[in-house]
Amino acid sequence: MSAKLTTPRGTSDVLPEQAALRRRIEDTARELLEHAGYARIETPTFEATELFARGVGEATDIVEKEMYSFDDGSGRSLTLRPEGTAPVCRAYVEHGMHKLPSPVKLYYFESFFRAERPQAGRYRQFWQVGAEVLGSDEPAVDAELIVLLHSLLAQLGVSGLRLRLSSLGSPATRAGYRDELAEYLRANEALLSETVRRRIELNPLRAFDSDDPSTREVMAAAPRLLDRLAPEDAAHFAEVRALLDAAQVSYEIDATLVRGLDYYTRTLFEFTSDALGAQSGVAGGGRYDGLVELLGGPPTPGMGWAAGVERIIMAAGAQPEPLPPPDLYIAHTGAAADALRTAIEAWNSGLSAEIELAGRSPNSQLKHAERLGARFVVLLEPGSAKLRDRAGGHEHVLSREQIVKQVRQELAP
Ligand code: HAM
Repeated sequence: MSAKLTTPRGTSDVLPEQAALRRRIEDTARELLEHAGYARIETPTFEATELFARGVGEATDIVEKEMYSFDDGSGRSLTLRPEGTAPVCRAYVEHGMHKLPSPVKLYYFESFFRAERPQAGRYRQFWQVGAEVLGSDEPAVDAELIVLLHSLLAQLGVSGLRLRLSSLGSPATRAGYRDELAEYLRANEALLSETVRRRIELNPLRAFDSDDPSTREVMAAAPRLLDRLAPEDAAHFAEVRALLDAAQVSYEIDATLVRGLDYYTRTLFEFTSDALGAQSGVAGGGRYDGLVELLGGPPTPGMGWAAGVERIIMAAGAQPEPLPPPDLYIAHTGAAADALRTAIEAWNSGLSAEIELAGRSPNSQLKHAERLGARFVVLLEPGSAKLRDRAGGHEHVLSREQIVKQVRQELAP
């Protein structure tokens, strides 16, 4: 026997009972988002590496060390998508969606790839449900998106939810603040971790993200961007908060909130769950008013979020769901063609039906139908058919042609 092969580290199979659970998450998201006018978009699994280098940012962990990039054979570098916002903006530009009525509201349910160190809640292939709104910088967009995400997580039973909210202001404010922060970090350089020190010039904001105790102490006294916002950005943030208050979505302002993507401007937020361990982030997002232009499109504000499907399942304590039992089980002895014909009639009429496929004895076939929990079992034999209602116990002898009609009649309310 050859050696057994298994899934690569940080990836896993989705087995049938888990697939049912994921489908419920997808269905809930679809219903909620489509009712709010969001349309589904699907983008390719791989994109030009340049898209993420430019869109997500060269100095981010994602681009620096977590991308699965490969040469496509012609010297061009491609990357398995680590996130969905840059691809959606690329598609918006590529398909001239700025000509559509504004704003353009999109959602996705896809898998993403990051070469992170695997642990509970952190995988190398994971799924996200995400939503993006392009073409409006109204605070109402920010509020609507956060409200929809909050409803989604609540509907899916995610417990111990906490929403942290902040604003990064405009790129100009951020640039001024960056210089101020970099100066502060340089003045305290000796107390900072090696990684933070290395990033002072490239990305001083990431210092707020550090786990290093001494760095954290320095950061506790650091100047805050939230105190430096320009009046129009402060007003935008105040309006977002007022709308969330009106919608009764509670939040905490967290001036130290940092997210690992460089495209954010103005509103920034993250939902965490107490039900999760170290990887407590269930969902996150924010505004990215400069991203479309950075990717070669017209100046277009944008805002969105993504939630991790595996983390939703963990935080909701969701259990695998058994597959629903079939309406009809078609047992047969030597009447395979009749069984297949009956199944086709049943499927075409909207019933769920399964055929005996393992060549079992009639008795074992009936036992198997019971194990499946089939409501009706029909035993086909050359020239005869016996239909049993396993709920009511009736048994009918009837012609093959009558089976589906009879089952439908008995199932009708
Ligand atoms: P993100 O915070 O990197 O944001 O990812 C969003 C969510 O995906 C996280 O809160 C987490 O639940 C899940 N997630 C991320 N990495 C992993 C992993 N390695 N294993 C399991 N789950 C993971 C984004 O991706 C942005 N594109 C969100 C966004 C959309 N911002 C604006 N629009």
